[in-house]
Amino acid sequence: MPSNIALVKYWGKRPGNLNLPLVSSLSYTLDGYGSKTHIALDEKDSLILNGKEKSGDEAKKTFAFLDLFRATSEYYRVVSDNNIPTAAGVASSASGFAALTAAMIALKGWDVPLKEQSMLARLGSGSAARSFWNGIVLWHKGVREDGMDSYAEPVTLQTEPMAMAVLLLDQSQKKISSREAMKISLATSPLAAEWPARQQAHLDAALKVKDLPSLGHIAEENAELMHELIRTGTPSVDFDLSETKEWKTRVRQWRGQGVPVWFTQDAGPNLKLLFPRASQKDITERLNATGVGYFVV
Ligand code: PMV
Repeated sequence: MPSNIALVKYWGKRPGNLNLPLVSSLSYTLDGYGSKTHIALDEKDSLILNGKEKSGDEAKKTFAFLDLFRATSEYYRVVSDNNIPTAAGVASSASGFAALTAAMIALKGWDVPLKEQSMLARLGSGSAARSFWNGIVLWHKGVREDGMDSYAEPVTLQTEPMAMAVLLLDQSQKKISSREAMKISLATSPLAAEWPARQQAHLDAALKVKDLPSLGHIAEENAELMHELIRTGTPSVDFDLSETKEWKTRVRQWRGQGVPVWFTQDAGPNLKLLFPRASQKDITERLNATGVGYFVV
């Protein structure tokens, strides 16, 4: 299952433990970059990630998610391979939980429509709800307390074809989980009260765009607003490294030179650049000249 990058971000949860979001969100699927997972019955639980047996938090989170499906005295051997460069620091939880969900459904031999698979994956990681389709995907926040209207589905935007470059700026561990950072920022930032309405306005505008520059502009503004919300929380969390700041400046400079390119940023220092597919040659030549690591989807 592929990972995905939000163009209009999911940030903030409603109360409860069903991973119900405060806001709807819109993403671009990283076709070909994600997790391949197979689950077999075994005598005990085990998780083999990229060829190595895991026993820490990753394993705990995985088995806790599998508890949702577990019959009495059923144990699983989970073998998962992730082909996203670790340096990308991109939503591997999205592809990870989407792939776990699909593998569990295959093991059980169930016939589950993608919309329902999306809701199941959401219980592991919110962004995983959006990984079941290629292209642009909309995750409806829903209003029900049981979460049965909080699922994703593919949408078509009226823009020219887009592409995304994932920059590999930093490969260190996240300093704080998105779950934790969401909680802090929404409980303490003075911007928290206005975030849902401003984010919804970004989403409404994104769904109506007629060209990629409009979408790029919204995506960049939305990511900047999310990071302002996070930075103005107490304690303040700043995901930017100096490289992150340099790249933001560079993207704006390129735009000043007439290059159609915008950035988005998740809960980490790496940037993803959004541009028309038709500009891919120009953008990759520029990226190559800087020596940065990246991949394009
Ligand atoms: O799915 P989570 O809990 O890892 O949260 C994802 C949060 C962001 O990546 C920052 C935004 C998003 O919509 O993917």
